[in-house]
Amino acid sequence: MIGSGLAGVLTALELATLKVPCVLVVQEGFHVSSSYYAQGGIAAFLPENTQDSLDSHIEDTLSAGAGHCDAQAVRAILEDASSLVATLNAYGVVWDTHPDGTYAYGQEGSHACRRILHVAGDATGKGIMDALKIALERPDLKPYITLLEGYHLVSLIQPDGKGTPVRGAVLVNPHTKPHAENENMCLYEADATVLATGGYARLWQYATPPACNLGEGIVSAYEAGAEIKDLPFVQFHPTAFAYQGQVKGLISEALRGEGGRLVNAQGEYFMTQYHPLADLAPRDVVSRAIFETCQHTPPAPQCEEDMTSRVSVFLDMTHLSEAFLKQRFPSIYQKCIQAGIDMATTPIPVTPAAHYTMGGVWTDYRTGATSIEGLYAVGEVAYTGLHGANRLASNSLLECGVMARRLAKHLVAQYEPKQTLNLLKAQVFDAFSPACYASWQARAKMRRCEATQQSLSTIQKLLWQYMGVVRTQKGMQTLLEYFEEAHAETALPTHPCHALQSMYDFLILLVRQALMLPQSQGAHTLHTSEEVPVVASRMY
Ligand code: SIN
Repeated sequence: MIGSGLAGVLTALELATLKVPCVLVVQEGFHVSSSYYAQGGIAAFLPENTQDSLDSHIEDTLSAGAGHCDAQAVRAILEDASSLVATLNAYGVVWDTHPDGTYAYGQEGSHACRRILHVAGDATGKGIMDALKIALERPDLKPYITLLEGYHLVSLIQPDGKGTPVRGAVLVNPHTKPHAENENMCLYEADATVLATGGYARLWQYATPPACNLGEGIVSAYEAGAEIKDLPFVQFHPTAFAYQGQVKGLISEALRGEGGRLVNAQGEYFMTQYHPLADLAPRDVVSRAIFETCQHTPPAPQCEEDMTSRVSVFLDMTHLSEAFLKQRFPSIYQKCIQAGIDMATTPIPVTPAAHYTMGGVWTDYRTGATSIEGLYAVGEVAYTGLHGANRLASNSLLECGVMARRLAKHLVAQYEPKQTLNLLKAQVFDAFSPACYASWQARAKMRRCEATQQSLSTIQKLLWQYMGVVRTQKGMQTLLEYFEEAHAETALPTHPCHALQSMYDFLILLVRQALMLPQSQGAHTLHTSEEVPVVASRMY
């Protein structure tokens, strides 16, 4: 199990509950995952919510997905919400409730009613992950889970080559300096290898997820020959916190659910011109509206020095009381105060930023199996068909949890439980060709080198400029040519950026898939003019 968000940790816990051992690879700690930072919550139809119905949740998901969801997957995943919530309750998650003990449901964009469960107001991910972390220590579960902290995925193991069964993973701990060769590297042999590594939204210059969301799981799966779907559908959250020219995390959509409204630099509301749901329109609609608003009302040039005032769009919460804002959004309130903004009196500067990637490794929504034997994917790394061209707010934690439970059940039914997993020691490296081993070592070393980091930074700028909220065929063609050239240049194993070869393969696939989309759909928006808008090269 590679990944420390809700998908990976819950799969491990569910396997342990069924008395099946597994290794849980935690790359940077339990607090470094998109799950941990989730603010809004989990969208869930619960039978006791008399305002809601399963059909209503399905309809909202399909409508936000812009005609691109797999309707069977949508029903199958959403109908498991209630049993997922019961499972999370059993692991100790405590949701926000009203004084009478009923759930305090939140509201987010495109939901027909209040159906978002949240924890500590706006710290849902932290609340869930803290509870699950405690559950990992339970005496009845702990013996089944081997924690491997600080390790990253280098490659999947396929003894018979690309497209053939995956038999484990090569991992490296980049933080330790090995005294002997391979000391910081290990190879685990496993019947089932599960990718729970998150998405690839951090490949864009302005983005909300943690820095590790660079798509390493998807890149490895593609390299292994797995089917990869829908990469161009990248969700830009309309309200990332725009602070001093940088994105400093998220301003949850739940703020608009409580009445927050977007205003332009002149303080004018504008969302009513774009959609009947105004500020609670689907995310792709709101992000496009902000993009257009920025084109029409650019920041004043005299403000160039002050990066904060370069922002053209703000979220206005000032009609709500300070007491309410502090109680409902304690973390976000504090984050703004630390940046010198009191949201009770001052509108918050916001910008769209890459937030969530709908595309990923194709998986069977009933089991989590990918197209490659022995390889599974769960959470944002996976494509199940639930999100379509634009994910409905707060459906992602739901998908992580539902699919984690299904995957654990499937693995137990599919494989004979083993008492231990085989950690392949140095002498077993001989089983692999020296070239194979040398390439793993080189790749592990190069990952963090300066040249690789610089190339990554260029990739992030280019994706923001040419494949942001609004795209053109011409811009994407430019991008494709750049990636193809970079791929050719780095082909030699001695090239300092050779470690990025498989990343360039993936990026080429991403752009090719986008170029094949004949028209705008959901989060993939083609600009009406062929010229790349100037505003696309900086934060909107
Ligand atoms: C938010 O709180 O706005 C983010 C929730 C999500 O991405 O689903």
